[in-house]
Amino acid sequence: MNSKRENPIEINKTEFQKIGYELVDTIAEFFDGISEKPVTTSKSPKELQEVLGNLSLPKNGLPAGELLASTSKLLFDHSLFNGHPKFFGFITSSPAPIGALADLLASSVNPNVGGQILSPIATEIEKQTIKWLAEFIGVSPSYGGVLVSGGNMANFTAFLAARAAKAPKKIKEEGLSSSSKQLITYCPKSTHTWIDKAAVLFGHGSSSIRWIPTDALNKMDNELLEQTIKDDLKLGHQPFLVVGTAGDVSTGVVDDLEGIAAICKAYDLWFHIDGAYGIPAAVIPELKELFKGVKEADSIALDPHKWLYSPLEAGCTLVKNPKHLIETYSSHPEYYNFSLTEEGGSLNYFEYGLQNSRGFRALKVWLALQQIGSDGYVKLISEDIDLSKYLFELAGNHKELEPITQNLSIATLRYVPENLEETGEKREDYLNTLNEELLNELQGGGEMFLSNAIVAKKYCLRTCIVNFRTSKRDIEECVEIMVKAGRRTHQKLQSQLL
Ligand SMILES: Cc1ncc(COP(=O)(O)O)c(C=O)c1O
Repeated sequence: MNSKRENPIEINKTEFQKIGYELVDTIAEFFDGISEKPVTTSKSPKELQEVLGNLSLPKNGLPAGELLASTSKLLFDHSLFNGHPKFFGFITSSPAPIGALADLLASSVNPNVGGQILSPIATEIEKQTIKWLAEFIGVSPSYGGVLVSGGNMANFTAFLAARAAKAPKKIKEEGLSSSSKQLITYCPKSTHTWIDKAAVLFGHGSSSIRWIPTDALNKMDNELLEQTIKDDLKLGHQPFLVVGTAGDVSTGVVDDLEGIAAICKAYDLWFHIDGAYGIPAAVIPELKELFKGVKEADSIALDPHKWLYSPLEAGCTLVKNPKHLIETYSSHPEYYNFSLTEEGGSLNYFEYGLQNSRGFRALKVWLALQQIGSDGYVKLISEDIDLSKYLFELAGNHKELEPITQNLSIATLRYVPENLEETGEKREDYLNTLNEELLNELQGGGEMFLSNAIVAKKYCLRTCIVNFRTSKRDIEECVEIMVKAGRRTHQKLQSQLL
């Protein structure tokens, strides 16, 4: 009698090999030909719903091979490709191909990296990944941490650890309302929107955020920061957290981290760095000075799915003293039988963050770190920065482009038509409308993809290069694409005004 259970889910070895090889072949073709494809589909959600069809869930299952073949086509025909060499939108990197293979391997073994007993080697791999990330950005390898889904989660994880460390201890039992003093957070006005979400969702309220203005270099004004802390203390509030940014989302500016660290020390505040995008650039020897102060941070958010080229999702929270994570997140219900090992306490990642069951996202990061190596990353990240500077320079040399800012690998610029008659406020209003229209045109056009930033009230085109496929030639072609689209958009707007 056959001891194997008949079931509609198992795929036998020969079949798995056949459809697996076919899938890998298709993906290899996809990577190889990605630059020939449009960056994005220009179809509307309605058109895509029609492509997908309105079938109900099949009652009887379908063959896995057919499903994978048709789904590959569906995805390759109707996606936005952040792996395209002309993709510079938001902050999403081209994914390292080894990450795709790593995800296949990780989900085949499927360790639950919430508990060590459930993921013996995977837990060790995550631990080593975190140690390497700490070493990579130049902080002590004794920093501990946890991998999370991305930047928002990495910052949230640190926010809650900061609160557990600095707020009155009774809050854990009695809640925020037990404290008569409002807990105040300080951050530059350029901080990513995660901070709003954190203040609202974790019960502090948006009024607990002090948005500190930036100085002439667009860094948080540390004098104003200190003054605001003093004012809050006088008013009887309880400052607890200062967030500095290492690569702000709009323009890539790195705050004066050393100065913030000194203020945090003086007032006994938690110093968190949101380095979700920019902190990998701390590995570049010439940028060491810019990132001075990183070592002082109590916690750091760093996203491998941004500038370490990991496929989504991979973020990381690093904490100088990892005991703060345990104090924040550990709980021990009686049904958790996670015992001690002979070397001491077992490392259970459910005690380090918000998640309980956790996937093996460390594998793709761990493998990419080894495949690329720190020298490989220095080369890739420096080249991304050079390409961004090149784009900025080309914009500066072009009569119809105005370069606005360039920091790390983010450049902002705008299209300015020749012989524009308007002046003053009218001119600025027109340029804002024109560049917003132009961005929509470029995003829908499929030739390149970028996003926007508002800098000093100017609506800018914003390019963020975290893309190992982009070449100088791509940059030159993109400048032409922007100018041509700019002329078309200007003409269209002018004819509407007539
Ligand atoms: C500085 C910074 N922090 C946080 C985030 C949020 O990251 P995620 O989208 O991975 O949650 C971003 C996203 O671009 C960012 O640039």
